[in-house]
Amino acid sequence: MTTRSLPVLDIAPPATGPAGPRDPFAPDDARLAEFRPEARALPAFFVWTLGCQMNKSDSEEMAGRLLAAGCPEAPSMEAADVVVINTCAIREAAEAKVIGRQGHLGRLKAANPSLRVVMTGCSVRESNRAGLKRRYPAVDLFLRPDEEPELIDRLGLASAQAPVGALARTSALTTVKGLEVSDATHLVRARADAIAGGAILRGSAISAWLPIIYGCDKTCTYCIVPFSRGPERSRPFDEIVDEARALAAQGYREVTLLGQNVNSYGHDLAPEGRFSHVVTERTVGRHQDRTARPDLAELLRAVDALRAVDGTPAIPRLRFVTSHPWDLSDRLIEAMRDCPSLCEALHLPVQSGSDSMLRRMGRQYTIEHYLERLARLREAVPGLALSTDVIVGFCGETEAEYEATVRLLETVRYDQVFAAAYSERPGTPATKLADDVPAAEKRRRLVALLELQEGIGLERNRAWLGRETEVLVDAVVPPRLHDHEDEEAAGAAESRDAFAHLPAGVVHLAGRSRENKLVHVAGPADLVGRLARVRVEHAGPYALRGTLA
Ligand code: SAH
Ligand code: SF4
Ligand code: F3S
Repeated sequence: MTTRSLPVLDIAPPATGPAGPRDPFAPDDARLAEFRPEARALPAFFVWTLGCQMNKSDSEEMAGRLLAAGCPEAPSMEAADVVVINTCAIREAAEAKVIGRQGHLGRLKAANPSLRVVMTGCSVRESNRAGLKRRYPAVDLFLRPDEEPELIDRLGLASAQAPVGALARTSALTTVKGLEVSDATHLVRARADAIAGGAILRGSAISAWLPIIYGCDKTCTYCIVPFSRGPERSRPFDEIVDEARALAAQGYREVTLLGQNVNSYGHDLAPEGRFSHVVTERTVGRHQDRTARPDLAELLRAVDALRAVDGTPAIPRLRFVTSHPWDLSDRLIEAMRDCPSLCEALHLPVQSGSDSMLRRMGRQYTIEHYLERLARLREAVPGLALSTDVIVGFCGETEAEYEATVRLLETVRYDQVFAAAYSERPGTPATKLADDVPAAEKRRRLVALLELQEGIGLERNRAWLGRETEVLVDAVVPPRLHDHEDEEAAGAAESRDAFAHLPAGVVHLAGRSRENKLVHVAGPADLVGRLARVRVEHAGPYALRGTLA
């Protein structure tokens, strides 16, 4: 059994795409090589990214800014002069990983006195700034997520060579549930500047992240994100469509629209005549006036409408994460039904199968509402693959409340479940409740839930046996994948033996189906970045295997 902490659509950098460290001074024309500036005059950087897709996207922007400032990318943390740690604070374990590396970083600094360590991401909050140096002694500079655009300036690297330096300024601080957070209104502008300056270093040439909304206005009582990321700010509609168009022109085959809650997209934008047909009805929860403002459905339709000369979607695969069940609108379901590029997969976090737990968690919906949305979705999008997030052992969770989650998993039969034990986060509203489920009991509930899901996942995958599926091949799988125990590795291990003796010119490839299932197949390496038809011949709980059709 394996666990995976976050709902990530992890896609390994392709063999054909930007692989390995990148050198900002590599001349386009080999004859210009002798005019290369002294690259080592500027520090080599390494970005260590933890957490969710939003952090991965932010890291692409920071790496892009460093590269645009003239800094080369180091192949490892050990070879770097600037280490940027983009942290995640969602659970204590995520922070422990970074605390655990302080000794190593300290030794690297002793060996290389010019090494500077920058820490950013969700662990850096205004409310805990004072205690950070004590917890992370090897770090020289702490930047909140909304201060990331200042990275170049704060490292003293802004120069004529750096077109994206002193552009963004931190916004005012505001208060969320008694804690100071940044209102971060400048992030939208900073992204636009980074795009204009070519300062996004994308980790893949096949699949791209595209942030559409920053922050989170929900107040799930267990969650640190609203305190790390501040209130919601939507990017302007046309900027997002322009970025998608540019990605299509660069040959990207898949785009994932990102936000902590993409369903909120647009509520904070000004009404416009061209969106007068947008009228979103709220079925539950508090009122939000969204009339004549763009919403996620409108955005998905606009990106889907970007077409190649043959009339097919210019970006063949469109996805979005994360959707909050409370504001999953009929308009969104209709867009999923109508847009051919929208993949038949949805991540819809439920957190618990019990209404009393959902109330304590501040989730603003009931299981009845959640199941009604699912029924509509499944009717509109036949074959829709579903994944979810679950927390076990949240404050006061009784055996009966936990059993309600077990029953929900049995009823819905998700393709994938990302489950975790509740981890109390400082400053969140839930700290006022007792974290009273003992650690061993949390563990028992988690293991039992994951075991149940392993069987359900296997059954869902077996339904694919003998069928053909479309796979976006994104990687050549090395003979031995690193020893970390996640689902990706487990899926690769299942197929490694089967592909141990391949003929010359054929390699072990991996990719994702439209339903976001990991698929292994043997084929030529030049399939990486292409869509392939695969006939499924083997199904495990975490991956499928097949042959090229
Ligand atoms: N915005 C997304 C979630 C982002 S966090 C959403 O609302 O769905 C990803 C997942 O981490 C959450 O869905 C939740 O299941 C889990 N999580 C958040 N805070 C947690 C905590 N304090 N302890 C354990 N898991 C947590
Ligand atoms: Fe956290 Fe809830 Fe916002 Fe998701 S919707 S980021 S779980 S507060
Ligand atoms: Fe972690 Fe922050 Fe994402 S807490 S899950 S990196 S938004």
